[in-house]
Amino acid sequence: MSIRRLPEHLVNRIAAGEVVERPASALKELVENAIDAGATRIAVKIAGGGIDLIEVSDDGCGMERDEMALALERHATSKLPDEQIEAVSTLGFRGEALPSIASVSRFTLESRVRGGDGWSRIVDNGALEGEGPAALPPGTRIKVEHLFEKIPARRKFLRSARAEYAQCVDVVKRLAMARPDIAFALEHEGRRALAVQGGEDRPDRVAALTDRALLENSVGVDFEREGIRLGGVAGLPTFNRGVADHQYLFVNGRPVKDRLLAGAVRGAYADVLARDRHPVVALFLEVPADAVDVNVHPAKTEVRFRDPALVRGMIVSGLRRALDEAGHRSVQRPAMGALGMWQSEPLGAELALAPSTPAQHAVWDRRPGFITPAPMGRAEPAWAPPPETIAYPLGVARGQVAKTYIVAEAEDGLVIVDQHAAHERLVLERMKKAMAGGAVSRQALLLPEVVELDESACDRLEARIAELAEFGLELERFGPAAMLVRATPALLGAGDVKGLIADLADELAAFDQALSLKERLDHVAATMACHGSVRAGRVMSVAEMNALLREMEVTPHSGQCNHGRPTWVKLAHGDIEKLFGRK
Ligand SMILES: Nc1ncnc2c1ncn2[C@@H]1O[C@H](COP(=O)(O)OP(=O)(O)O)[C@@H](O)[C@H]1O
Ligand SMILES: [Mg+2]
Repeated sequence: MSIRRLPEHLVNRIAAGEVVERPASALKELVENAIDAGATRIAVKIAGGGIDLIEVSDDGCGMERDEMALALERHATSKLPDEQIEAVSTLGFRGEALPSIASVSRFTLESRVRGGDGWSRIVDNGALEGEGPAALPPGTRIKVEHLFEKIPARRKFLRSARAEYAQCVDVVKRLAMARPDIAFALEHEGRRALAVQGGEDRPDRVAALTDRALLENSVGVDFEREGIRLGGVAGLPTFNRGVADHQYLFVNGRPVKDRLLAGAVRGAYADVLARDRHPVVALFLEVPADAVDVNVHPAKTEVRFRDPALVRGMIVSGLRRALDEAGHRSVQRPAMGALGMWQSEPLGAELALAPSTPAQHAVWDRRPGFITPAPMGRAEPAWAPPPETIAYPLGVARGQVAKTYIVAEAEDGLVIVDQHAAHERLVLERMKKAMAGGAVSRQALLLPEVVELDESACDRLEARIAELAEFGLELERFGPAAMLVRATPALLGAGDVKGLIADLADELAAFDQALSLKERLDHVAATMACHGSVRAGRVMSVAEMNALLREMEVTPHSGQCNHGRPTWVKLAHGDIEKLFGRK
């Protein structure tokens, strides 16, 4: 047996085994490089979960032509100027990311320094394929395509594009959280998944990347001891979640995954939170360079503390102290959510309602008993409304009857609206409009929800995952008999996710396999709309009722529900007079 040195391309590929485990790890290296290059804006584009394409563009320092060649060589780095790994201030230092990634993908590197010309180098699975001039603004753009295409063994270990994509989002989120001074944008298959402006302060940035409501539901952490400083944001105990995946730790600006953090957080919240609930925290630890070793993991996601007990103690005390100052504050989320349902979409411009149609009279006439039961509901003080208010076709809300119907006074009569049917219709129309515009915005669930269904229902849903995503519903298969729901269409608001998924599965069972969901838009959207709507039996405030009326007035087809029944009826003044025998 003779010993030989492996050729460079093989060495790179072996290194890639550690550095580039999956699309998200390649993405992490590229974004870190952009940060190290002093970028103020970093734009990421992903397709096929990052397996098909990862593209990272930055406006950083760029590279000269000869530097580009060097950058693709192993152990070549512009970092570590004084060769002190312990004191490294950049995210990168190993000089192996670019050659490793380029050895397992089709890799296009384009770069331009300020005042220079752009140049590009294309490397296909480790072999230089070409180079030449490139047109790009100052900075660097790197495209990674067809990751692991030539390495089936690696490819097999990847999960679904959805799952890989989720990891990519997590990578960008963590790095964006570490650097609120930099603007980040992430696009997935042409759709914007994340965008934050540069120059935000830290709590704003953390909230923008986790949950906007965190701003009102968190306390700042700022604690120092023995040269170690702990800063960041800690969610109020009442702002808790069922999973611990919204806990972020950064050590000297570097996102790290550390078991120490989870334990320390649990300790800090132990007496204010149930065991199966988890807080949202983003903690930034600044420690002296000699107190931590960052070079213990090829992907640099783990660190080793010289004194883990000290760090743990710091986190527990820092968090406890911050939480003590929160006093009586408690979660502020639900009320906001309810209002948001009315305001999440801009109003249409079309006035679609005739004030009163014969058909609606007919319905009213056929149901004379409708007004006989003793009224049960709330009445609002009957201030005389200003003239312009009463000119609304559907009038001004006066109260609610049986927690189901809105009673409004219009200029020419009394309007009664079926709140559930009307709202369902509005949601459906909003959804159709968003679909036509190609962009249904999603709302990530605070905690992904597991919905148990029978296996064939899961199969049906799984077969339609990509199509459902276009409706804003993000699903993943979760074992043989469950689906994981990550996001729902934003315009549904927080609804009954389990019911929605179960109904959709039923709806799909009734479908002809040949039909696309788009062709059955009305059915799918209606099923969703039904779940996103104000239920009969919910007490509404006057402001909510009026908002509903105003939106109905400008939404096409809002006069009928999804099953063709009227959403509102009007009793004209003349009709009221008839009831009283005055005419
Ligand atoms: N986006 C970028 N902008 C400017 N220079 C870059 C960029 N990406 C990589 N480089 C250069 O290429 C070198 C090699 O990158 P990499 O392989 O990731 O190793 P490391 O980041 O550990 O130095 C970097 O040291 C840097 O000089
Ligand atoms: Mg690097």
